[in-house]
Amino acid sequence: MTSSSGWLPLSNYLTFNIDTPKFVNMELEKRKVVLIGGSHGMGLGTAKIASAAGAEVILIGRDEAQLLSAKKTLGPKTRIIAGDLTRPASYPAWLDEIGTFDHLFISASPGGESSFRSTYPTIESSYLYGKFWHTFIFLQQAFRHISPNGSITLMSGGYAVRPHPDYCLVTVAFAATESLAKAMAVSLAPVRVNAIRPTWIDKEGDHTATTKNLNGFMGNNHDIGHAVVFLMTNDYMTGQVLEVDGGTSLV
Ligand SMILES: NC(=O)c1ccc[n+]([C@@H]2O[C@H](COP(=O)([O-])OP(=O)(O)OC[C@H]3O[C@@H](n4cnc5c(N)ncnc54)[C@H](OP(=O)(O)O)[C@@H]3O)[C@@H](O)[C@H]2O)c1
Repeated sequence: MTSSSGWLPLSNYLTFNIDTPKFVNMELEKRKVVLIGGSHGMGLGTAKIASAAGAEVILIGRDEAQLLSAKKTLGPKTRIIAGDLTRPASYPAWLDEIGTFDHLFISASPGGESSFRSTYPTIESSYLYGKFWHTFIFLQQAFRHISPNGSITLMSGGYAVRPHPDYCLVTVAFAATESLAKAMAVSLAPVRVNAIRPTWIDKEGDHTATTKNLNGFMGNNHDIGHAVVFLMTNDYMTGQVLEVDGGTSLV
C-alpha cells in the first residue's frame, strides 16, 4: 500500500542482512547483473549490494571454489560461471549461458608486467594487454546481449591520474579503460557506460586507518559496490568516471 506521498512503506526500500549492506533500495529487482570478478574484492562487494537489491546475479571468475564460497554470501538468484577473461574462446559459451542481461561490471583486471623498465618480448606479456585488451574484446561480443536500458561499468583506479613509479602500464591501462568507457558511451547509447576510479581500497579490511586521504581511513568493498550500483541504477549517468577515493585527490 502506498502512502499519500506515493512512497511505499520504508520496509519496501530497505533490506537488512548480516552479509549484505545496511541500506539498499530494490531498484535492481527483475534485473540481471553480470560481474566478471564477482567472486572476490570489489566485484563481490558490488554483487552483495546488487543481490540484496533484488537482482539476479551472475559471478564470473577462474576459481570455482571461490565462486561457490562467494555464492553462499548472496541471495538465491545467484549463478556462477567458472571462466578466464583472458580466454576469448570461452566468451560465446558464457554469453549463451547468461542470455540477455541488464548490467555488467568488469572488475577482473588480468595482470602482466607493468614497469617501464621491464622487458616486453610481446605486448601480450604486458598489463596493458591483460587488462585493457581483454576488457575490450569481451565487450565487443557482450554488448549485443545488454538490454537497451542497461549499463556497463569498467574498473579504473587512482593510478590513472596519479602514476606510481613502478607501475607505468597500470596507469596507461587504467587511462585507456576510462577512455574506452567514454567512447563506448557514445558508440552504444542508449546503453550507458561508465568507469569507476577507486583509490586506497583495502579489500580485506574495513576502513583501515590511513593518512593518505581526507577521510583518514581506506575504502572497502562495500564503498565501491555502493558506487557501482549507483552507476547501474542512475539513468542519467553515462560517459563518466566516478572517483571514489576518500578525498585522496585533494591531499
Ligand atoms: N585495491 C585498490 O585500491 C584498487 C584501486 C583501484 C583499482 N584497483 C583495481 O581493481 C582490480 C580488482 O580489485 P579487487 O580488490 O576487486 O581484486 P580481487 O579481490 O583480487 O578480485 C579480483 C576478482 O577478479 C577475478 N579475476 C581475476 N583475474 C581474472 C581473469 N583472468 N578472469 C576472470 N576473473 C578474474 C578474481 O577471481 P579469480 O582469481 O578466481 O579469477 C576475483 O573475483 C585490481 O586488480 C586493480 O587493478 C584496485
